[in-house]
Amino acid sequence: MFNTNTINRFQQLDTPFYYYDLDALRKTLEACRTAASKYGFHVHYAMKANFNPKVLDIIQSYGFGADCVSGNEVKAAIEHGFGKDKVVFAGVGKSDREINLALDADIFCFNVESVQELYIINDLAKAKYKTASVAIRINPNVDAHTHHFITTGLDENKFGINTWQLPDVIKALKECPNLKFLGIHFHIGSQITDMEVYKNLCTRINEMQDWFNDHGFEIKVLNTGGGLGVDYYNPDTNGISDFESYFKVFSQFLNVKPGQEVHFELGRALVAQSASLISRVLYVKNGLKKNFLVLDAGMTELIRPMLYQAYHLIENLSQTESEETVHYDVVGPICESTDCFQKDVELPQSHRGDLFAIRTAGAYGEVMASGYNLRDIVGSVYSE
Ligand code: LLP
Repeated sequence: MFNTNTINRFQQLDTPFYYYDLDALRKTLEACRTAASKYGFHVHYAMKANFNPKVLDIIQSYGFGADCVSGNEVKAAIEHGFGKDKVVFAGVGKSDREINLALDADIFCFNVESVQELYIINDLAKAKYKTASVAIRINPNVDAHTHHFITTGLDENKFGINTWQLPDVIKALKECPNLKFLGIHFHIGSQITDMEVYKNLCTRINEMQDWFNDHGFEIKVLNTGGGLGVDYYNPDTNGISDFESYFKVFSQFLNVKPGQEVHFELGRALVAQSASLISRVLYVKNGLKKNFLVLDAGMTELIRPMLYQAYHLIENLSQTESEETVHYDVVGPICESTDCFQKDVELPQSHRGDLFAIRTAGAYGEVMASGYNLRDIVGSVYSE
């Protein structure tokens, strides 16, 4: 993926940094837009995956809406040109300040995660003589078959409203004149590549839709959430997620009625492949049992491997010709034993100063960086 010019450019720069391949980003966005527009589907970009300003500007220019989970994300979405009529706001813990901010911004829809939240939004909207549009986030108890740390749609998860509470939702909607019911919202987890899971989700959404209709509520918006995964193992040969198959499942199995809108909230699949974390080897430690490569990036720059045992392809960009390989534990400089990107990676024999790329780091990478150990917050470099 990295040509000689790019690697030469990296040589001149201080590491670590996130490198954004904006061409890859644009190709991914184009593929998603084309696949979704075939069915008239609405896509909101899940800003939590990456709110780098340049990335936001580009995504916005493709006409996507924004899926936000904090008041600051709502603010940033609007500042970066996402239309307020395309902003949705989810989250189990929206504060009064955040709800007021979103009411003032006249966003498209609140994705509401508890019965109590319905009453709070109603009260705050009433105080402003406004009506808030809401969708009910339902916890569908569908297993996403992904890592349990990033599963969200099971009964034991904190997200959404469980189906046994839906009668209370109906009661609340009837008692809250400052709420406008738009529809139902789901999100069952992240990094889902098995299309069967989405088929099961469609079945559940159809059941829920019938339930609301039976209780006298018409549904305008079906929001299926996000979750489409990426190929962390083959970023060069399979860099764009299968948007076609993904949207096709919903077009085939979702019971969409005339006048209804189908919405999606994709994060990872739109941005993951657009960035790599670029780092240098600080030290090579050859032990009796283990060889360690100590990079100048660690869990402060990319925490996914340490937090979710997530796999990211690791490449030595400086030793592309070398035939001799060594098994290394690739670790960071942070004072924590878990600060390890991957154990036992077979790599060309590596040296102090070699440049490394940790691939597919555009989603939940830069945004989850921290200043632990009083480290500098990692910066970014762009392909153009
Ligand atoms: N909608 C809702 C309500 C969400 O909670 C999420 C992600 C998305 C959409 C976007 O999901 P995506 O298309 O990106 O899978 N930090 C973890 C992932 C956390 C996902 C949180 N919710 C990771 O690095 O794997």
